Amino acid sequence: MHILRLASALSFLTLLPHSALASVLAIDYGTDWIKASVMSPGVPFDVLLNKDSKRKIQSSVGWKKTDRLFGTDAFNLASRFPSDSFSSIKYLQAAPFDSEMVSYYTSISTAELVKTSRNTVAFKQADGNEWSVEELVGMQFSYVKQLAEALAGEKVSDVIVTVPPFFSQFQRDAVVDAIEIAGLRTLALINDGTAVAVNYAMTRTFPTPEYHIVYDAGASSIRATVVSFSTSNSTSGTQIAVAGVGYDLATGGTELDRRLREILVEAFNAKNKKDIREDKRGMAKLWKEAGRIKAILSANTEATATVESIAWDIDFKTKISRASFETACEDLKDRFAQPVEDALRNAGLTLDNITSVILTGGSTRTPMIQAAVRAAVGDEKIALNVNADEAAVLGAALHGAGLSRQFKTKNIKVTDINVFDIQVSYLATASSSASKPRTITTGVFPAGSKAGTKKTLTFKRKEDFVLNFDYKTPVAPGFPTRFLEVEITGVAEALANLTDLGASDPVIKATLTMSESGFVSVTNAVAFGEIKDDSIAGKLKGFFGGGSSEEAQVETPENAPPREAESSSLLASLSSASAAPSGSANSTPEKEKEKDEKKKKATPKDNTISLNTTVVFPSIPPMTVEHKKNARSRLRAIDLDEAAVARKEEARNSFEGYLYRMRDLLDEENRDTPFKQCSQEAERKAIAAKLDESFVWLHDKGDVAETSQFLDKRNALETLERPIVHRYQEIEAFPAALNSSQMWNWSTRLFLEEARANLTAEAAADLPSKWTAEELSALEKTLKEHETWLNEWVEKQKAVQMNEDPVIETKEMKARAKVLETALARLVKRKVPKTVKKKTTATSEAEPTATAAEKEAEAAEETSATAETSATAADAQETVIPTPTPVVPEGEQVPLQTTHDEL
Ligand SMILES: *[C@@H]1O[C@H](CO)[C@@H](O)[C@H](O)[C@H]1NC(C)=O
Ligand SMILES: *[C@@H]1O[C@H](CO)[C@@H](O)[C@H](O)[C@H]1NC(C)=O
Ligand SMILES: *[C@@H]1O[C@H](CO)[C@@H](O)[C@H](O)[C@H]1NC(C)=O
Ligand SMILES: *[C@@H]1O[C@H](CO)[C@@H](O)[C@H](O)[C@H]1NC(C)=O
Ligand SMILES: *[C@@H]1O[C@H](CO)[C@@H](O)[C@H](O)[C@H]1NC(C)=O
Ligand SMILES: *[C@@H]1O[C@H](CO)[C@@H](O)[C@H](O)[C@H]1NC(C)=O
Ligand SMILES: *[C@@H]1O[C@H](CO)[C@@H](O)[C@H](O)[C@H]1NC(C)=O
Repeated sequence: MHILRLASALSFLTLLPHSALASVLAIDYGTDWIKASVMSPGVPFDVLLNKDSKRKIQSSVGWKKTDRLFGTDAFNLASRFPSDSFSSIKYLQAAPFDSEMVSYYTSISTAELVKTSRNTVAFKQADGNEWSVEELVGMQFSYVKQLAEALAGEKVSDVIVTVPPFFSQFQRDAVVDAIEIAGLRTLALINDGTAVAVNYAMTRTFPTPEYHIVYDAGASSIRATVVSFSTSNSTSGTQIAVAGVGYDLATGGTELDRRLREILVEAFNAKNKKDIREDKRGMAKLWKEAGRIKAILSANTEATATVESIAWDIDFKTKISRASFETACEDLKDRFAQPVEDALRNAGLTLDNITSVILTGGSTRTPMIQAAVRAAVGDEKIALNVNADEAAVLGAALHGAGLSRQFKTKNIKVTDINVFDIQVSYLATASSSASKPRTITTGVFPAGSKAGTKKTLTFKRKEDFVLNFDYKTPVAPGFPTRFLEVEITGVAEALANLTDLGASDPVIKATLTMSESGFVSVTNAVAFGEIKDDSIAGKLKGFFGGGSSEEAQVETPENAPPREAESSSLLASLSSASAAPSGSANSTPEKEKEKDEKKKKATPKDNTISLNTTVVFPSIPPMTVEHKKNARSRLRAIDLDEAAVARKEEARNSFEGYLYRMRDLLDEENRDTPFKQCSQEAERKAIAAKLDESFVWLHDKGDVAETSQFLDKRNALETLERPIVHRYQEIEAFPAALNSSQMWNWSTRLFLEEARANLTAEAAADLPSKWTAEELSALEKTLKEHETWLNEWVEKQKAVQMNEDPVIETKEMKARAKVLETALARLVKRKVPKTVKKKTTATSEAEPTATAAEKEAEAAEETSATAETSATAADAQETVIPTPTPVVPEGEQVPLQTTHDEL
């Protein structure tokens, strides 16, 4: 089995035998298309194919009455069931119901939208069923999961999903919620431009650092990501760092489709004196036609739109030129390349610093967009020979495989950035009871700061307080700025306890994290005070101005890059010396030493007390655990129903196929078939009768029957057929079984003759023998029994007709031959006794057993298979060589969470 699987593993992925690696799924979830890839032992690393062997899946879910459809089937439903086909759902992830995003969506889609209890968007089917955005996206993830599991041949739980770099925490939460609803576990979210960069770096090295731009023109937006690549030496691997991002949320393929459809709408209305906008089906048909025309206009200067029976029984046909399309998009032209400029400006670079521009995203095929980019960056900068369409999903898979630590991937270190200014605010303690409390606002993660960093804020507070997290400006029109409120509680008690322990001027420290996946959270909050340590307490006092100042606050970057680490070295050393529970502080040897010294003086354990944090989502909350549980069971219920339907379908089809096969077998025409030869007239009659009955039943009841009935009916027929099949199988198997029996018979006889001769010779020469005469006689007895039995029954079997049951079964023949074989093997394996007195009866049996030998052979084969596959991997300069590291326990329930801090 292992060897087989190894042989099928292609160059991209290899594994060592006996490792049980869990698969990693990557999903590039786009507005129009989903691409996925599964990294799994023994499965060639590639893009996942859908059921029609396509490399991408249209991002649509739909219902045809009660049948749920995905992909293009679901998209195409819109022209017949405009309220039951849902596409471009990505636009609506976390969108507030009254935001511009939602009104834009209603201009492109015929779907009916309703508001959820969280003030986000749900879709309403024609039958009244409502599905939240997260549920519909979750269904798509779950669909991909099933495809991946079918390919990997095992459960797939871990997933990495791409998101645009401008996705705020609201949207990232919505993505993770959908992942959890789908029963998956989030390894990470990765910005799509970054994923393309990872893929780019996989097959390249950068001895001198280079900057490249990933220009991604998708359906709902255009974004540009400036990325630096460097490979300082082979041991440290390749560093990828995002340097700047630019984006435009209002241009992209969908907007072009919309404008193209407007042209078609105008053309229809002018010609027919009717408003096609009033007809949902007609609008859906035109939407699909606009997409088709756009593709044609990418390669041609003119196209003919044709929609039969678009509405009111009218066949619609019109010519449309690329020029008129481009005129309709005139105002967008300046925006196509703007993200490149923005990204460069944010990175502090100019085009001169850029080695190449990698184009990705379906809309880069639109001539006016490509022309705009070429004009902006120069033809010579456009990277050729980069298959960027699948780069994001492959890059994400490679990154996910690295994160999962279950596959060994090329050593690539990825540093991404946060694209928004994020600030934290809190109320200052009132200086006097009369004055209104002042709000203090401070930037914590400015735009362009690195993801995957922590900052520690220090507060002089006596009471519980709240940290409010805001985007400095709205992340998209209609989105709120406040995304998180964290209350830090238990302050007074903790400070009192610290003071009791002798701490002077205790403070509150909160660790804020911007995770690699782009989530902001308060990962730790403690009360901290130095206890009976004069030198440090003195310093602290000095630093806080003797504790009389109103509010003292210092930022301490932990894990921060050197560039950001300039602030307060004093507090930085204090905080890491304070045995703060966050084990992630970058302790240098000096700091460790400091810590050790302090351990001797005070009891560092006592100088921090953990505080409680309570998270509140003030504006667009993620789904609650309860919401997600419900959603998951709704989805599971559909999955189970569909599986039951599929099983029934399968049972029916196979029953039907079986009936036709049996009818063929019984056919008069087919005379000398094994079936005829091995069956008797009466048996065939019984089968024919049952068969007729079954055909009638299938015709009458087939549509309403249960799965079990199909199975039962089939079983009844198979019971009648079984004896016939058995005869045939026995006839087929008999010659080999007989040969084997005779072989053992023959070898035993040979052995006995030779062994007897040797025994006699050895006895004459007074040499030790391996066997005693008694043992040889016993073997001969076994042989005789075998021979006698064989002779007798083979004779009887000869008289048996083909259509009669055999008198001896090959199974028994094999069992009897085995007895002889075992008896023989026991003596053959015997070694010559080393120290011998007279005749020995010492039995040192079964030393090198057959199984041990087999194992050795097997191991040798496995080794060579492994060597072969890794050689191929090296040839292809491939990078993924899994190592046998421990796995996540199987079947583990994927937990549901409201906060995604852990990401
Ligand atoms: C490789 O580079 C890293 C960091 O750039 C450095 O710390 C390390 O010493 C280098 N190793 C060799 C073998 O040059
Ligand atoms: C970018 O290019 C400018 C001009 O060619 C050069 O002075 C600068 O050092 C470059 N910056 C980087 C980061 O390479
Ligand atoms: C912190 O939360 C825990 C559990 O919710 C609670 O038992 C404890 O009393 C809280 N402590 C403080 C100081 O609020
Ligand atoms: C403070 O001290 C009291 C008494 O030792 C203890 O019960 C309580 O849990 C402590 N509170 C905190 C927040 O450590
Ligand atoms: C019997 O088996 C031996 C060894 O497997 C083989 O060489 C021989 O051809 C077989 N003879 C028949 C009649 O199957
Ligand atoms: C009999 O003796 C010969 C010569 O020592 C040896 O090669 C052969 O294997 C022996 N036969 C058996 C069955 O032990
Ligand atoms: C078993 O082998 C012996 C010796 O080769 C032969 O004489 C005898 O016919 C065989 N018996 C059967 C049943 O094949």
